[in-house]
Amino acid sequence: MKFAHGARLIGVGAGLPSAVVTNFDLEKLVDTSDEWIKTRTGISERRIASDEETTSQLAIAAAKDAIAFAGIDPNEIELVVVATSTPDNLYPSTACMVQAAVGAKRAAAFDMEAACTGIVYALAVAQQFIGSGTFKCALVIGVDIHSRFLNWADRNTCILFGDGAGAFILQADDKENEMLGTYLRADGSGGHLLHIPNTGSAYPHAGVVPPQATHGFLEMNGKAIYEFAVNAVPEAVRAACSDAGIGVEDVDFLIPHQANMRIIKSAAERLGMGPEKIISNVNEMGNTSAASIPLAMWAAIRKGQISEGSTCALVGFGGGLTWGAAIVKWTAVDQRKTASDQISTNKKVEASKS
Ligand code: UT7
Repeated sequence: MKFAHGARLIGVGAGLPSAVVTNFDLEKLVDTSDEWIKTRTGISERRIASDEETTSQLAIAAAKDAIAFAGIDPNEIELVVVATSTPDNLYPSTACMVQAAVGAKRAAAFDMEAACTGIVYALAVAQQFIGSGTFKCALVIGVDIHSRFLNWADRNTCILFGDGAGAFILQADDKENEMLGTYLRADGSGGHLLHIPNTGSAYPHAGVVPPQATHGFLEMNGKAIYEFAVNAVPEAVRAACSDAGIGVEDVDFLIPHQANMRIIKSAAERLGMGPEKIISNVNEMGNTSAASIPLAMWAAIRKGQISEGSTCALVGFGGGLTWGAAIVKWTAVDQRKTASDQISTNKKVEASKS
């Protein structure tokens, strides 16, 4: 083990906006069709945040869900890391808002940004803190509301994205290390291929208060990102497996960034992985950016698709450009289920006594 202390994922959670926007709804906005979107991307619907729903609210919902799954006291959390490109405001950070809302009174908290790869970067950062013995329990969240930055008249982009938050709880474990390997990369020379310009301090408003012009929208060279992704995913998975000391054939499930089913299938094929190993919910969530990997994992765990003891390859790619993977063994048990099983067992015992 590279680290002095092991780490394991003990919880996963989700925070989703309530509104579902289908491809048929989008047919009313832009010149597109349900058939085109499904065939080219695999997406049927996505969740879109209302004006009242914010990034911090979704992150807090996902955090509470993951904390309940893990069955921990929020006071145990010593670190909150939030990966997001779409915070409520430049500061306070989303992580600080989550820290206060969940009552993680002993925690350090900060945001980090690596676009859609953010959750993989955030997990790797949390592992460093836990592995070094600095902290024993971390709340790691990926959250984005890209719908606020989409041009809803641009059919090339507006059909792809959805909003949401996914959370993990990572805990120190000196008996078993289940964060087996990681790999992180960036290539800033490709930044222009996927960006949201005019949203930061490079956009001075010349003393006009409030700024008169609206912010920019997400812009993307779809073909270039597609090409980048189908190469970056296999590269990252192979390298993270090598870091973990396992072969790609030892991976039970591929949990990729949910951008496009064609990208996912093509990358899986390049890795020699059959469809039974692919975890995807892109059909009902679209691309939720930093949230997509934990949301896909959360849905698969709830369906019983990912069983205890599975080796999973979490792999992201996106703006920056950034890409990376984490090989994780999943052995966690939903503590809420354990509690309700206990209650029903007790009821059965009581019934048999009477
Ligand atoms: O987190 C990372 C985020 N980004 C990505 O992952 C994006 C990666 N790229 C992709 O997923 C794909 O490139 C897209 C889904 C964006 C596009 O699929 P494509 O197969 O590369 O389509 P295309 O761009 O080659 O466009 C084919 C045709 C074009 O029409 P013409 O020029 O052949 O007449 C487009 O104008 O499809 C047209 N088109 C659409 N038609 C109906 C583009 N968007 C749409 C649309 N509905 N929404």
